[in-house]
Amino acid sequence: MNPAIEVVGLSYRYPDGTVALDGVDFSIERGSSVALLGPNGAGKSTLLLHLNGLLRGEGIVRILGREMEEATLPWVRRQVGLVFQDPDDQLFMPSLEEDVAFGPRNLGLSEREVEVNVSWALKVVGLTGMAGRCPHHLSFGQKKRAALATVLSMRPEVLILDEPTSNLDPRSKGEVISLIGELKRRGTTILTAIHDVNIVPAIADQVLLLDRKVVEFGPTREVLVKRGLLKGLGLDVPAIADLFISLKDGGQYPGEIPFTRDEALSALAQIVDR
Ligand SMILES: Nc1ncnc2c1ncn2[C@@H]1O[C@H](COP(=O)(O)OP(=O)(O)O)[C@@H](O)[C@H]1O
Ligand SMILES: [Mg+2]
Repeated sequence: MNPAIEVVGLSYRYPDGTVALDGVDFSIERGSSVALLGPNGAGKSTLLLHLNGLLRGEGIVRILGREMEEATLPWVRRQVGLVFQDPDDQLFMPSLEEDVAFGPRNLGLSEREVEVNVSWALKVVGLTGMAGRCPHHLSFGQKKRAALATVLSMRPEVLILDEPTSNLDPRSKGEVISLIGELKRRGTTILTAIHDVNIVPAIADQVLLLDRKVVEFGPTREVLVKRGLLKGLGLDVPAIADLFISLKDGGQYPGEIPFTRDEALSALAQIVDR
């Protein structure tokens, strides 16, 4: 076990008394991609804010083996890139290029390195032609991708995404999904809080179910078939899997539960053959 993120006994109470996290424990291996699922108010955003030290609760957070504390905070912030749900929280410079350059400049990279990282990050999110534009005049989907670029330009080892596909149209959603796949192939450890369970099989090897504490943590295909557990939290099984779970329960389908369209097509062929 070689964890990128380790959380031990993490609890957090907001100043108004709301207990958002209550003894959270988990550990995420380097290079894996994990989806963070839970109902509204489960503490997902609160947890993510702890992973680069924007909030400090009780308990221990370790990043790449080092415990988060005052002394390691600047180091932690170089390793962990956090993309907020609302892109307006991340974009504040007069041009997109300056926003994307802000992080790497702040890390003290040379202007040459800054330039390389900025053009790479803009390219990866598909905004190369927009470098000179004012971020606040971009469309919502472009702003979401711009916010992602401001973090990618620092080339973080660990990437934390808070609802990266929320309010995006299907094409932009597809682009974010392939981007996550691409970053995972490069070895980045990725933790994504996500609302839409249908997207989870495409982006994550493992699922962390949170409801102020960890309810379940395991391989995507094992967690996302637990209909009762998910329903109890107000969550759904992905639509394709849900259909085949019903067929299996009714004795009409004996095989593995499919999660993707292609898997569903071969599962249907098996049913027809029978
Ligand atoms: N700034 C805040 N002050 C007080 N309570 C908060 C604040 N932010 C979030 N909360 C509360 O903490 C709990 C967890 O919120 P959050 O982490 O945003 O959940 P999620 O991201 O899973 O929807 C909720 O009950 C929410 O109302
Ligand atoms: Mg949230």
